[in-house]
Amino acid sequence: MTEKSTIQFNPIGIIRTPYTENAPYQPIEDDEQEFAIIVDPEFAKGLYELDRFHYLMLFYHIHLIEKEVKMVVEPSWSHGKKVGLFASRSPVRPNPIGLSIVRIKQINDNTIFTTGLDVFDKTPLLDIKPYIKDLDSKEDSNYGWLDDLGDQEHLQLHIKGLPHEY
Ligand SMILES: C[S@@+](CC[C@H](N)C(=O)[O-])C[C@H]1O[C@@H](n2cnc3c(N)ncnc32)[C@H](O)[C@@H]1O
Repeated sequence: MTEKSTIQFNPIGIIRTPYTENAPYQPIEDDEQEFAIIVDPEFAKGLYELDRFHYLMLFYHIHLIEKEVKMVVEPSWSHGKKVGLFASRSPVRPNPIGLSIVRIKQINDNTIFTTGLDVFDKTPLLDIKPYIKDLDSKEDSNYGWLDDLGDQEHLQLHIKGLPHEY
């Protein structure tokens, strides 16, 4: 058993999205609605040269979760497949930290406009990092247990909650 200690983070800004009740399970890149990351003015200088990158990684506090944390989860789209929490992207975690990778559209002062996000409006922002080619993508990455669920292309539509006809 590890020694327990408390860690405190302070938000560095806020994420604005159109979602107040339902959000996609993962970001939808071609969602046409407005998504903006508002960084507190005291951190605005930290955005210098971020616009040289196409993508960023966003870390945030999944702050509205009220469900009990369970170590075994069954994603709604997984047809009954149960997996360990840490083998999943469930937002209900001991430390509710979310990670989304989105494309940068434009940066104006302390506001970053991005492609679609998967978080509720006013989600507290914890950190931003650039997504760097090769460093952040692994050629031999795989689908893990998702392989048990069949057709990946079809499955991705379910995971993202995209309507489809087959
Ligand atoms: C499955 S999580 C994935 C988050 C992130 N892409 C990840 O992999 O860490 C996305 C879901 O978290 C929930 N969610 C998003 N923002 C939230 C917030 N601020 N508080 C509580 N739940 C949130 C929504 O139900 C959304 O569909």
